[in-house]
Amino acid sequence: MTTPQTPYQILGDQGIADLCQAFYDAMDKLPEAAGIRAMHGEDLSPVTGKLTDYLVEWMGGPPRYSDVTGSVCMTDPHAGYHIGPAERDQWLLCMQEALSRIDASDELRQMLETPLFRIADAVRNREGASAAEGNPNIIAAN
Ligand code: HEM
Repeated sequence: MTTPQTPYQILGDQGIADLCQAFYDAMDKLPEAAGIRAMHGEDLSPVTGKLTDYLVEWMGGPPRYSDVTGSVCMTDPHAGYHIGPAERDQWLLCMQEALSRIDASDELRQMLETPLFRIADAVRNREGASAAEGNPNIIAAN
């Protein structure tokens, strides 16, 4: 029997850094993501580093994000932005594109599909209550 792996064990630090680079690159280039690209500053490198630290922790790695911020909650840092279903879906589109660009396996993509939807929907702050149940901020324990 094989031991189940966390997404962090599958991707490693470099894989997650590559994923986040590809994610903001997709946001920068995809016409469909122009709406959420416009919410971000011109230089995407600071937020790329923050997303990398966040996803390392969320995917079951060391607590790099909360060591700095004291929290893994994603609703507070997004509260100042208008995020409805369209913005959520643009974010998820960029993440799907990034997963393709790093050649993520079908198994990994399947493992991440529901948790990614839940966290993106939890960040949504317009048009109805969040569909997320429980705590979407961590998907894998250390
Ligand atoms: C649902 C659609 C989303 C939109 C439109 C969105 C947009 C944004 C924007 C505009 C910022 C500020 C960027 C800046 O400072 O220039 C931000 C920060 C951030 N976002 Fe999102 N975001 C979304 C979802 C998510 C999700 C699902 C995650 C995590 C899985 C995430 C992780 C982060 C992180 C870690 C930061 C940095 C927060 C900090 O300053 O500590 N975002 N996001």
